[in-house]
Amino acid sequence: MIIHKKISIPTLFSIFAFHLSNLQMAIEQRAYNIYIETYGCQMNFADSDVVNSILQKAGYTSVEDIAQADYVLINTCAIRDNAEQRIRKRLHELKSLQRQHPQLRIGILGCMAERLKNQLMEEEDNVSFVVGPDAYRKLPGMLELVRKGLRQAETDLSTEETYSEIQPVRLNGNGISAYISIMRGCQNFCTYCVVPYTRGRERSRDPQAIVAEAKMLFDEGYREVTLLGQNVNSYRWNGGEVGFPQLMEMVAQVSPLLRVRFATSHPKDLSDDLLKVMAAYPNICRCIHLPVQSGSDRMLKLMNRHYDSAWYLNRIDAIRQYLPDCSITTDVIAGFCTETEEDHQMTLDMFRKVSYDYAFMFMFSMRPDTYAAKHLEDDVPEAEKKRRLEEIIALQGEIALQNNRKDVGKVFEVLIEGTSHRSKDQLCGRNSQNKMVVFDKGSLQPGNYVNVRITDCTAATLKGEVVE
Ligand code: SAH
Ligand code: SF4
Ligand code: F3S
Repeated sequence: MIIHKKISIPTLFSIFAFHLSNLQMAIEQRAYNIYIETYGCQMNFADSDVVNSILQKAGYTSVEDIAQADYVLINTCAIRDNAEQRIRKRLHELKSLQRQHPQLRIGILGCMAERLKNQLMEEEDNVSFVVGPDAYRKLPGMLELVRKGLRQAETDLSTEETYSEIQPVRLNGNGISAYISIMRGCQNFCTYCVVPYTRGRERSRDPQAIVAEAKMLFDEGYREVTLLGQNVNSYRWNGGEVGFPQLMEMVAQVSPLLRVRFATSHPKDLSDDLLKVMAAYPNICRCIHLPVQSGSDRMLKLMNRHYDSAWYLNRIDAIRQYLPDCSITTDVIAGFCTETEEDHQMTLDMFRKVSYDYAFMFMFSMRPDTYAAKHLEDDVPEAEKKRRLEEIIALQGEIALQNNRKDVGKVFEVLIEGTSHRSKDQLCGRNSQNKMVVFDKGSLQPGNYVNVRITDCTAATLKGEVVE
């Protein structure tokens, strides 16, 4: 229905005046577009969602096409030298985009920003702002100053900031599985690691805010949350009133249909209490990521890991005892300072003993400012580090394949995540053990649980058929 309405001249004039003032406002407060690119660990991805939230609240629009952006924010990682080199290369690539869009401003966020601070702007002339992981609330004010042509750096670390009440805006998720940050920082000071310097002291987030976020996600249709922290076992709220096992229990009680995962656990703090809570709740996933770093006691001491191989294997036994169907994954470093062939063989032995389902395997990279950089020598030749790493990778490939073969014939409950990358007629999802399972689509939908009998496997994936 169209309504014709007589408009008097004064009204017309006031409409015109109204539009004019709105137009002026729109020009002054034009919604600026932001594009965030994220590198590094899950914590960084979770942080990018916090940054999205902060900037959207301040009137910015997140765009998916970098060519539409007024601001490109690169959330960086500093864990190994190659992570930083990748960012340097990316900055160089972005120069041509900046030539096409002279209004484009680039900012560096995250751990590389924290590590290099102002130096980064001195070295990279196309960077307009540098923001450390605890300073994201300052972004709206900083961007205003950047618009006025001022380059900005904010890299103070905090002992309190957890962005607790900020609802992350999850733009790149699948709508089914989400990260929830439960603590920030790390003060374990493993001698090789830059994280205590880039992320600051450990601090935990209010458990009520964590549970509220999990409930909200469940109501929105999410079916899996991963509680995140550099060392989740040291989660401690209010002087220990709520520890990690209690927090897990609170989140697991949100709904039996909400899967709960967590990362990362430090072996020194993996308690029986946590394993008991896991055993009591089937919706807490049967998967523990327990970075070993090395199988040699001498190396573990030099790395300041606060456990030896016997302690680590004792924790593995405890996991097997409480959770017989639990998968175990790890991180390992090849070629740390002074590592001998014998130390390396001990790492291979550890892999055989534990029989990991998955491993993140790295060559040691010396990081400035760490204890290792100040007191130890990076004396394992690059080619030797590479050889040892390749040996670990090859062994782990065999172990993962053997483990997956043992799953053939078993039935697993799988949370459907989406269409398989290989074929649009197949769906994929994970079982409780965090293994990827692929099966025929039928009339099934992402977000649902389905039982799948495993019929075949590779080292990386299980294949199966849906059963009633
Ligand atoms: N907080 C987690 C790990 C964070 S970093 C934990 O302690 O388990 C992720 C992994 O990167 C580490 O577990 C380690 O295996 C690896 N890593 C850290 N510093 C490294 C370095 N300097 N060189 C190579 N790998 C490193
Ligand atoms: Fe780094 Fe060690 Fe802390 Fe993990 S526990 S983040 S390896 S210092
Ligand atoms: Fe990298 Fe920082 Fe995570 S150094 S691994 S992004 S905590």
